[in-house]
Amino acid sequence: MNEKIFLASGNPGKLAEFFGLAGPGELPTPRLDLALLPDFSSLPAFDESAPTFAEIAAGKALHYSRLVGALILADDSGLVVPALGGRPGVRSARYGGPDATSAERNERLLREMRNFAGGERRAYFVCALALARRGRAIAIVTARADGEILHAPRGARGFGYDPIFYVRDRDQTFAELPMEQKNQLSHRGKAFRRMAQFISAI
Ligand code: IMP
Repeated sequence: MNEKIFLASGNPGKLAEFFGLAGPGELPTPRLDLALLPDFSSLPAFDESAPTFAEIAAGKALHYSRLVGALILADDSGLVVPALGGRPGVRSARYGGPDATSAERNERLLREMRNFAGGERRAYFVCALALARRGRAIAIVTARADGEILHAPRGARGFGYDPIFYVRDRDQTFAELPMEQKNQLSHRGKAFRRMAQFISAI
């Protein structure tokens, strides 16, 4: 599959991970030719108010693939804390208000969970990826990565909730792991590798 795939995202943290995931030697399938969707931020935005990650990813991919006659890969991702009824969930990017910083979102979540112990601190990241061309969906995949929410941030890598997301097997947060190791374990890495198999069969 030599067709260029355009990523419909403006989040620099996610974009760095996608390019790492598509890089040389990363995929068992042939390499994917990924590029940023030109002028992404000046195109009409997609309304992300649907209640599930998969609906938002699929809706975004369909929306941008109608505006641009090309193969579009869109993602929606977020952090789910079952003991908080699934919050922040599909609202992860806007938790605590649209202008809050990642550090402020993390502080808010830590505050809300300050009395949680043991299994109540369990959390998982979800990534839904959708591929569409000219208003038709080609594939949708969803994957998750399990961990726990720490009591204080640790690590300076990654983005978003990474400093408070702890992986017990590694004894590290996502923000302490080098990107290649995070990509091996992460929701985005798992979903992307599955999507790459679909793409190689197109
Ligand atoms: P959206 O997919 O653009 O709605 O944004 C997802 C939001 O979920 C991000 O802005 C982060 O706050 C959070 N998120 C998703 N994936 C990750 C991750 O791998 N690490 C940390 N935070 C993430």
